[in-house]
Amino acid sequence: MAMLESNALARTAPLYDRVKRVIPPPEWATFADDVEAILALKRKRNAVVLAHNYQTPEIFHGVADIVGDSLLLAREATKVDADIIVLAGVHFMAETAKLLNPGKRVLIPDLEAGCSLAESITAQDVRLMRERYPDAPVVAYVNTSTAVKAEADICCTSGNALAVVESLGTGHVIMLPDEYLARNIAAQTRVKITAWKGHCEVHERFNAEDVRALRDNHPGITVLAHPECPPEVVAEADFSGSTAAMSSFVDNKRPARVVLLTECSMSDNVAVLHPDVEFIRPCNLCPHMKRITLKNIRHALETDQHEVTIDPEIADRARRSVERMLAL
Ligand code: 13P
Ligand code: SF4
Repeated sequence: MAMLESNALARTAPLYDRVKRVIPPPEWATFADDVEAILALKRKRNAVVLAHNYQTPEIFHGVADIVGDSLLLAREATKVDADIIVLAGVHFMAETAKLLNPGKRVLIPDLEAGCSLAESITAQDVRLMRERYPDAPVVAYVNTSTAVKAEADICCTSGNALAVVESLGTGHVIMLPDEYLARNIAAQTRVKITAWKGHCEVHERFNAEDVRALRDNHPGITVLAHPECPPEVVAEADFSGSTAAMSSFVDNKRPARVVLLTECSMSDNVAVLHPDVEFIRPCNLCPHMKRITLKNIRHALETDQHEVTIDPEIADRARRSVERMLAL
């Protein structure tokens, strides 16, 4: 066993070279065997791993085939030419991949990988909102269940929310469930937005005082904030955008010193590509994203657990909302 593992260590050395700035050698020694097994299982089973930007670096840089924000993962899911998709992310992301690939097997390594936003609203809540505001179309963030997407007119992500709201041609929209995303978008448009009171448990913890303290303690720092942060945090930041937009900001602007007000793994994953940038790291962990590990990705590929299934009647209506977004 020890011999097997040290061979795995030697064979995964080129991969380790990429992530050595953010993963200490003893930690990689515990990952190498699973990394190698996952790479072999993907080939054997014609499987791909789609990983969100919040996955840990050994997953993101070690075994993923496609990485990105929610929008990119949804778009790429429509192009996948494999029999099996393993979604290294949270449940709503796996459901979206399944909606777009009804004929493929979509696996989520841990069924409990949820999301506080998705859990904040039900399909019945959306029907009640519609009754109250019958003339306002419903924009549902992708961080929702399939049942909620089925009640919406269109979906959005943090990467396209403004464009989606403005594409509808109405003076008023309902945007749910993230109150802060809705308010951050409302600040950029003349469209009136009625929000729901859902919050991301990771981003709601940042506050404006944190940003001011960062600027005092780290002169010259560039502050990037995800739009799920409270509006007062976004107002204090230098830039706000989806996880992919934050990553592109660092790629293009190369700030000397930066903080990403978002989930912790994001800084690690971007730092791997930018040794010249100093990352300051007050970040918050998403306990749901962190349920996904190399061990359970390997287990998913070995056992087909857990397969995502969706009621076909709900799926057709939800797919329309997602496809309408992707067609923009
Ligand atoms: P992005 O679409 O920006 O990657 O965000 C997804 C998410 O869950 C943020 O908390
Ligand atoms: Fe949901 Fe927030 Fe976790 Fe993203 S970071 S999956 S919005 S709880």
